[in-house]
Amino acid sequence: MIPKINLSDTGKEIPVFSLGTWDIRNRKSMIDTIRYSIEIGLNHIDTAEIYGIAEDVVGEAIQGIERDRVFITSKVAPYNASFKGTISACEKSLKRLKTEYIDLYLIHWYEPFLNLEETFSAFSKLIETGKIRYAGVSNFKISELERAIQVFKPFKIVNNQVEYNLDNFRHVEKELAPFCEKNKIIISGYSPLWQKKPPRGTNKWEVLEEVAKKYEATPFQIVLNFLLRTGKIFLIFKTEKIEHLKENLDSLKFKIEKEDIEKIKKAF
Ligand SMILES: NC(=O)c1ccc[n+]([C@@H]2O[C@H](COP(=O)([O-])OP(=O)(O)OC[C@H]3O[C@@H](n4cnc5c(N)ncnc54)[C@H](OP(=O)(O)O)[C@@H]3O)[C@@H](O)[C@H]2O)c1
Repeated sequence: MIPKINLSDTGKEIPVFSLGTWDIRNRKSMIDTIRYSIEIGLNHIDTAEIYGIAEDVVGEAIQGIERDRVFITSKVAPYNASFKGTISACEKSLKRLKTEYIDLYLIHWYEPFLNLEETFSAFSKLIETGKIRYAGVSNFKISELERAIQVFKPFKIVNNQVEYNLDNFRHVEKELAPFCEKNKIIISGYSPLWQKKPPRGTNKWEVLEEVAKKYEATPFQIVLNFLLRTGKIFLIFKTEKIEHLKENLDSLKFKIEKEDIEKIKKAF
C-alpha cells in the first residue's frame, strides 16, 4: 500500500508519490509504466499542456481504466492563461487526455504579465462546469501566492507545485511550507531526482552512497525517503521504466535514522 496524504482540506487523499511525464523518450514504455503505476495504486499522474506528447500519452494509457481510479494533474502555461485562453487550453488538454475532467489544474508558473483575475475567473468557470475538480498553481513564490489567494476567493488554491530536491529543500521546508500550511495549500515537489543529473563524483554523492549502504538501498531511494520525511509534501518523480518505478517505491520500505538525516543535511 502506498501511503496517502490529504490534498489540502478537500477531503481527497492522494498517494505520497505522483508519476511525472515530462521528457518522454519512449511512448510505449511510458504507457506501460503509467498503467503499471495506476494498477499498484500510484494513480496520480502529473502532466502539462507544454510537455509535448505527454497529455496524449496519458490519454492513451488511461483508456479502459475507470476514470475515478486515476487522479490527473495538468497545467496551463501563463502565456495561454487569459480568460478565453485558459478555457480553450483546458478543453484542448481534455481532448488530448481523452477524458471529461482534470482532477487538479494549475497555472504552470507566474509571469508579471499574467492577469490572475482572468485566469482564476476561467478556473472558477471550469470548476462550476465540472471540467476541473481542484485548482492550484506551480512555481509561485509567497508574494505571488498571497495575491493569488485573494484573487481566487471564494474558490481555493489547494496546491503549489515547486522544485524540491536536496539542493533547495531548506528553502521549501523553512520558508514556503509554513506559509502554505497556514493557508491550507499542499506543496508537491518536482524534480526530486535532479532530472537525472545527480551530483555524482562529489562529496555529496559519496555521503548518499554511504547512507544507502547502511539501508541496503540506492542513493535515489535515500533521496526520496529523505524528502518524504516531513509527511507534508508529496513528490513527483518521472520514470518511464517499471524497474525504476519499483526502485523508487521501495524507498518507502525503511525509515532513515536521525543521525543519517543529519549527515545528509550537513553534506547538502
Ligand atoms: N511544474 C513544473 O514547472 C515542473 C518542472 C519540472 C518537472 N515537473 C513535473 O515533475 C516531474 C518530475 O520531475 P523531472 O522529470 O524534472 O525530474 P526527476 O523526477 O527528478 O528525474 C527524472 C529522471 O530521473 C530518471 N529516474 C527516475 N527514477 C530513477 C531511478 N530509480 N534510477 C535512475 N534514474 C531514474 C528518469 O529516467 P527514466 O525515465 O529512464 O527512469 C528521468 O530521466 C516531471 O516529469 C513533471 O511531471 C514540473
